Amino acid sequence: MKKTVAAFREAKLDKKKIAMLTAYDYSTARLVDSCDIDGILVGDSLGMVCLGYKDTLSVTMEDMIHHTRAASRGTKNALLVGDMPFMSYHASVYDAVKNAGRMVQEGHAEAVKLEGGVSVTRQVRAIVKAQIPVMGHIGLTPQSVNIFGGFKVQGRQLEAAKKLIDDAKRLEEAGVFAIVLECIPEALSGKITEAVSVPTIGIGAGSGCDGQILVYHDMLGMFSDFRPKFVKIFANAGEIIEQGIRKYADEVRNGRFPGPEHSFLIDSEIIDNLY
Ligand code: KIV
Repeated sequence: MKKTVAAFREAKLDKKKIAMLTAYDYSTARLVDSCDIDGILVGDSLGMVCLGYKDTLSVTMEDMIHHTRAASRGTKNALLVGDMPFMSYHASVYDAVKNAGRMVQEGHAEAVKLEGGVSVTRQVRAIVKAQIPVMGHIGLTPQSVNIFGGFKVQGRQLEAAKKLIDDAKRLEEAGVFAIVLECIPEALSGKITEAVSVPTIGIGAGSGCDGQILVYHDMLGMFSDFRPKFVKIFANAGEIIEQGIRKYADEVRNGRFPGPEHSFLIDSEIIDNLY
């Protein structure tokens, strides 16, 4: 059944946990979509796991549209959320609406996600007014890595914890349909989840959230540059892929691949008469 933003709201009311994953291309989105996942996020994390940048700051609108459009072709049932990259909504409300519109029209996203709390509520309101559903994202917002001084747990001090609760409430007022909570202590995520009527989707935010999201490459052991504490490897596909590639190279070098079953036939008379 097709998941919509309404399904996300109902899940919170029905106390049903929401399962989301990232995907950045057609084949992966198709696989994820076939596994009863509620939402697919084409995250700007693609900058790190697909493009090899050290953070997400170099990701452009063109990158996001390219990957979101590919993922959209493989997504039938999950809600497809496209991430707004760094500087696509920071400079003005006009930029925010224009770029969110591009994510929908050119990327075929069904909703967009942007990072920040109180500081982005004007942008959120305007995008929602343009009829585009918005997912909020607070806590460790990777686009603010240079302000945070690294990828660190957020909200551990009283004022910071109060600010996160306020951010979540203000995002709700501005019209978001869900809020990602990233790298926030579990007890604080529980308080935020109670404080808002929209679902919270945790990543490194403990079990009290209304749903969870992980980066596809992380949960399948396919990205080893950096492994945050909150990542659980559910299947070590990275190891299986490595074994497969080594076996392929070995068989090519030993002449075992391709075998007759992978080759095409031609009448030997034709070959004999070639010269
Ligand atoms: O870019 C991303 O993948 C994200 C998730 C980690 C929430 O923002």
